[in-house]
Amino acid sequence: MLRGVILAGGLGTRLHPLTKVTSKHLLPVGNEPMIFHSVKQLTTAGITDILIVTNPEYVGAFVSTLGSGKEFECEFTYRVQEEAKGIAHALALAEGFAAGGKIAVLLGDNIFEAPIHHAVFDFHAQQAGARVMLKEVEDPEHYGVATLDGNRIVAIEEKPRYPKSNYAVVGVYFYDASVFDIIRTVEPSARGEYEITDVNNAYMYRGDLEYSFVRGKWVDAGTTFDSLTEAHQILLNAADW
Ligand code: G1P
Repeated sequence: MLRGVILAGGLGTRLHPLTKVTSKHLLPVGNEPMIFHSVKQLTTAGITDILIVTNPEYVGAFVSTLGSGKEFECEFTYRVQEEAKGIAHALALAEGFAAGGKIAVLLGDNIFEAPIHHAVFDFHAQQAGARVMLKEVEDPEHYGVATLDGNRIVAIEEKPRYPKSNYAVVGVYFYDASVFDIIRTVEPSARGEYEITDVNNAYMYRGDLEYSFVRGKWVDAGTTFDSLTEAHQILLNAADW
């Protein structure tokens, strides 16, 4: 069974003063709070057991917005990340929830024009290891960037000043149960965060990292006000799925 994890913590400082009102992930995108999109991605892919990780200030707002999951035909569990120490740090809180099984992890500010269920399907077919999703972009320096050699990822660099490719590693990750042991080996980066890129590279060194391409448009809505506007337009114009 594949369980879902939506990471919706962080301070959202790049979107101040909007994020003084509420969490970035509850801001309107399309006609709904941003996090509805991640929930829909998971439920569309048949993933209905979903953990939401958020920070102490906003957990109440998340619970009152999302509830038990009944309205979305899924079941939510909530966990609080006390300190904003990065994506891998937030993911560590999912260990009990994962209960030794595989997980699909979504960053709650990543918005897609199309479903990601093909990648879920590909991961189901994978024996073990991890899978990331790639999208060709014009500004790779803002993201994790993958270098490909044939059909293998041979390096991922987090926000490199001089990117070696245009392939952004987007905020969707699939992991087997060994991810939690890997997280325990990760050291904080120069920006003081436990980086998900280090986790993905650990799988890569083991020869256990696969990838799928994103279909249609993708945006990290939490980066700038322009990216938030773009996310809004993508969802308003997207075909219904
Ligand atoms: C994070 C990851 C980065 C990834 C991006 C996708 O960056 O660290 O590798 O490409 O999400 O949205 P952040 O936006 O948290 O700085």
